[in-house]
Amino acid sequence: MKIDLTGRVALVTGSTRGIGREIAAMLAAAGARVAVSGRNADNAAEVASAIGADARGFACDIASSSSAAALVESVERDMGSVDILVNNAGITRDNLLMRLKDDDWDSVLNANLRGAFATIRAASRGMMKRRWGRIINITSVVGITGNKGQANYAASKAGLIGLTKSVAKELASRNILTNAVAPGFIETDMTAAMTNDERTELGAQIPLGRLGTAGDIAGVCVFLSSEYASYITGQVFVVDGGLVM
Ligand code: NAI
Repeated sequence: MKIDLTGRVALVTGSTRGIGREIAAMLAAAGARVAVSGRNADNAAEVASAIGADARGFACDIASSSSAAALVESVERDMGSVDILVNNAGITRDNLLMRLKDDDWDSVLNANLRGAFATIRAASRGMMKRRWGRIINITSVVGITGNKGQANYAASKAGLIGLTKSVAKELASRNILTNAVAPGFIETDMTAAMTNDERTELGAQIPLGRLGTAGDIAGVCVFLSSEYASYITGQVFVVDGGLVM
């Protein structure tokens, strides 16, 4: 069984580092032409050239609907219609409920949820015409379980699950499959602030005994982009070493 994505164009948001970068690299290794995107054009171009000759970099602030729509337009102009869309860009602005400011709420909801809505709305037009598409939204286990100090982040990630299921129902008849991947604790810049003690304590609660890697998430995204996943839509794939069962 070999996954071959030759001929597909994939757009991965927030792919200049961390999980997104690994998803972009693995999709490229499977043969897709990948659009790398991040807030900084130079970083995006640098990552694109590192992952493959066919990859291209694009700058976009996903928290702005017009910038998200313009991203899809630029990718479609330069590389062709988007076949695979991975909404990975995300931020945290953690605080206890009483200390959360409106701005903490808005920034997280805009980047994590409205950004995904805007790219899906823009990219699904071409997918509908071609009657083929894969949309993968990177949510989080905290979108399922909730988490103290993360009301804004958990709400955005739970919202992504509702968005995923609604879009899956709306677009299934056009052969557009929409799924979500919910990582647990993954070793990236987002979790780098944890102390060694916190890491050890957390590892002890995870049945597989370790934090995940970006590759653990990227592998599932490549599978969901492939023909081997052609009867799966509207699902949430929890990839967390067994933390949430
Ligand atoms: P990261 O912080 O290392 O990377 C996030 C990426 O999103 C960066 O490339 C950043 O530039 C981009 N980004 C953020 N805001 C943006 C904006 N407004 N416009 C464009 N790009 C923007 O994060 P990491 O850990 O790689 O996370 C990737 C995704 O996985 C996020 O959606 C995160 O919520 C989710 N996740 C991560 C977990 C972890 O343990 N690292 C656990 C569960 C979910």
